[in-house]
Amino acid sequence: MQIESEWLQQQIDSLVVISEEPAPVVTRILFSDADLRAREHVRRLCHDLQLKVTEDAVGNIFARWPGSDPELPPIATGSHIDAIPNAGRYDGVVGVLGALAALRALRASNFSPRHSIELIVFTSEEPTRFGIGCLGSRLISGALEPEHALALTDVDGNSLRRWLEAIYGGEPTLRSVAKPKGCYAGFVELHIEQGPLLDRAGIEIGVVESIAAPATLRVQITGEGGHAGAVLMSDRHDALLAGAEIALSVEQAARESHSRDAVATTGVFRIQPGAVNSVPFRADLEIDIRDTNLSARDATLEKIQTEITTICHRRRVSAATVILNQDAPAVCDPALVKILEQSAASLGFSSLRMVSRAYHDALFMAQISPTAMIFIPCRDGISHRPDEFASTEAIRRGTQLLAEVLRKLAA
Ligand code: GLV
Ligand code: MN
Ligand code: MN
Repeated sequence: MQIESEWLQQQIDSLVVISEEPAPVVTRILFSDADLRAREHVRRLCHDLQLKVTEDAVGNIFARWPGSDPELPPIATGSHIDAIPNAGRYDGVVGVLGALAALRALRASNFSPRHSIELIVFTSEEPTRFGIGCLGSRLISGALEPEHALALTDVDGNSLRRWLEAIYGGEPTLRSVAKPKGCYAGFVELHIEQGPLLDRAGIEIGVVESIAAPATLRVQITGEGGHAGAVLMSDRHDALLAGAEIALSVEQAARESHSRDAVATTGVFRIQPGAVNSVPFRADLEIDIRDTNLSARDATLEKIQTEITTICHRRRVSAATVILNQDAPAVCDPALVKILEQSAASLGFSSLRMVSRAYHDALFMAQISPTAMIFIPCRDGISHRPDEFASTEAIRRGTQLLAEVLRKLAA
């Protein structure tokens, strides 16, 4: 099987310009013009390959190569094309366009699958708009209640319900998105590692065995505003300062955790009114907490919640805290992991079993299907930055392995 790596690289590069910001910056926030245009672009590529393209009520795209035995559950692959602000070109995209290149190679080799093969382009793997990641795959797996999903709001106060009504028209039918356990015979996601281990060790393929457990807290702090010159220091209830202390306590909680893999980040910090001569009366924070060890992650989360209460009480500001998600880690299917490892070896690629510290749609697909992931190295482990880079050759290897595994699983 020959991967058309030049075609694949060109496709990756042409998606870069479908962005809310000029290249090399990629920003494709859910439902932005760039996100909608990128979906259209990918749908067209799927049509070009004569795949049967459908879309569910939350915008997950399914592109199917029908197998010869329609009774068999399909094999699925895929990832996402939305991107956080100031991102690069490979996160998610390699798993979508790489899957297309794998299907092209399988077609060109005259392979005829018995199981259907389905490419899934998941809606909003990134949490930027609604604060919660893996929106599409969460709904597919049934981990997120449709009513809860529809009520999620973005920074402008617009709900998912409102967005779906505006884009698709009519009442959103999110209940129809969930799929039963066993609906896929397997799910394999190709992705850049987003960490430094493969690149540092000079290893060509990462075989993911488990995915770390993420949680997200949204904190709304309300203090008291006023004139920056006139409000006496002793009378202040500054929402920003409470938020700043909270952000420091988030760092401390992760550093002091006994767990090696504990990480915690305050990635969103917005203040109002945002004027130099006005005491901030409101601060909105979003805090991302992860660990490979679930009880350690929950202990960090609890510690942060206690700190929020203590800090806000001392500063006499109020805090409304919502846990947007508190997910368990995923364990990949041991049989699939073995197939990936053996296939990598048969193609002559070095490989390493590893943990995914980033989350992926595979985290939720693992709840309904045997799941595994293929990682490829990215330079210096850099990701979620415009200088994210994976070589054409690394992408080719990952794609070749994906094609090989799809061939084995769908035969
Ligand atoms: C995915 O983008 C993550 O934040 O892990
Ligand atoms: Mn990402
Ligand atoms: Mn990703």
